[in-house]
Amino acid sequence: KEQKVLVIGSINMDLVTQSNIVPKVGETVLGTSFFTNPGGKGANQAVAAAKLGAYVTMLGCVGEDSFGKDLLENFKCHGVNTKYIKTISNTSTGIASITLSEGDNSIIVVPGANHKLTPEMVRENEKIIAEADILLLQLEIPLESVIESVELAKKYDIPVILNPAPIQALSKELLFDVTYITPNEHEQRSLLTSDILTLEEVEQIKKKCIVTHGSKGVLIYQNQEELIPSYKVEVVDSTGAGDCFNGALAYSLSMGTELHEACRFANAVAALSVTKLGAQAGMSNLEEVDIFIKEHER
Ligand code: RIB
Ligand code: NA
Repeated sequence: KEQKVLVIGSINMDLVTQSNIVPKVGETVLGTSFFTNPGGKGANQAVAAAKLGAYVTMLGCVGEDSFGKDLLENFKCHGVNTKYIKTISNTSTGIASITLSEGDNSIIVVPGANHKLTPEMVRENEKIIAEADILLLQLEIPLESVIESVELAKKYDIPVILNPAPIQALSKELLFDVTYITPNEHEQRSLLTSDILTLEEVEQIKKKCIVTHGSKGVLIYQNQEELIPSYKVEVVDSTGAGDCFNGALAYSLSMGTELHEACRFANAVAALSVTKLGAQAGMSNLEEVDIFIKEHER
């Protein structure tokens, strides 16, 4: 049986400029290359899970423009179900303007149509939430829509992974209602130092955190704090590595894999992804991941 992964989230076109020099205000520099790549945290996570073999449905919005058309086409190429993606007229498709300089990146996101994914749109699609094996969420759509999604998932007892990126203040209820939270180290710090939480609550929420630490691996706190190390690779482009981790984690957990093993697997998929340019280009199928893991077995 194919596992049903539902992603409710953002869809962007990434406009990527490579440059050795990052311009200061008022300065003009020459870059080395430019390309457009499908991106958006929601879309990246959806594609990562689909490439591994999950049956992925994406709930999201694009604008009525050429980027929107290209992004729908891209989903189809990767076997993602696009039936529930809305095309919004008079609105531009979300974009991310990315500057890559020696593997490091800085990003400006313009949400555009992603902000039209309203709580009403979530409610209209209650059925697909009820039918999912796992729900994957990020924070590039309106927060009320994330909250609505989590409430509906709770109603049907569907496990939820919340990737709290880009970081923003979240209510106690939301943090308690999701099954897993996947912040990076900075996001974790700001989530858990919030003054709305008591020390005891922080400890409770920590238990569901899976904290990504880049090339070091991930920390989990289920029983005691434990590092699940990652794989050493040469970094070409780390854009979307976290998304790749989340998509792979959702796929693996939806198969009933135990958390450690799921994290180890997702680490491998994410490590592979940074060896290629582009957020989605480095996302691999199961066969490629198996080969990679065998090659890196210690
Ligand atoms: O996580 C990476 C993604 O964040 C990029 O693809 C870009 O679209 C931004 O949303
Ligand atoms: Na990449």
